Amino acid sequence: MLNIALPKGRLGEKVYAMFAKAGFECPALMENSRKLIFDNEEAGVRYFWVKPSDVAIYVERGAADIGVAGKDILLEYRPDVYELLDLNVGKCRMAVAAPAGFQDDMNRTLRVATKFSRIARDYYTSVGRDIDIIHLNGSIEIAPILGLSDVIVDIVETGTTLRENNLSVIEEIVPISARLIANKSGFKFRTEQIERLTEGLRKEVQEA
Ligand code: PRP
Repeated sequence: MLNIALPKGRLGEKVYAMFAKAGFECPALMENSRKLIFDNEEAGVRYFWVKPSDVAIYVERGAADIGVAGKDILLEYRPDVYELLDLNVGKCRMAVAAPAGFQDDMNRTLRVATKFSRIARDYYTSVGRDIDIIHLNGSIEIAPILGLSDVIVDIVETGTTLRENNLSVIEEIVPISARLIANKSGFKFRTEQIERLTEGLRKEVQEA
């Protein structure tokens, strides 16, 4: 069985449709149930739904041979996995955002609220700016409104969350999209199957 970890939610469903089209079907997966693991013995695949930010953990530790994870997670946690393909879905960007009228005072340490501490630290190191990271787990957008931070580093997709909280992008850090990842030893044992899947997906990405 090829074990495949997919991110639970809309992106995961879209990605599953791509896998199915590439010949790795498991129709039970789309049944409306609370089940999390699905097998298709004939096709030799077992899928499971996991929290999007956990996919890379399953793959790195070999509980899954392959999975789909956002580039944000790969940059933040740097799991020891192969990154096989950019699926070109789940597209968004990592950006710095600030309240209207924000001006950076270079004489002060900049307070940055984020879920992505490493990405934020790497970015500000690259531009030579001293910062103080305030690590939060969600609702990052309210940090500057309440004076907890000066700016935020977060994912921007449609921009609606920023707009509705009177924030705007001041710097783009990196574009993000979903990536096909593989466990390193799983890849050695199942090279043929994984390459067949990767090539099928690559064609779909090119044709999209
Ligand atoms: C992300 C991000 C923003 C929002 C941006 O949160 O942290 O809050 O999406 O999307 P938008 O530009 O389309 O408004 P997500 O919904 O992933 O929830 P999370 O905070 O639990 O990660």
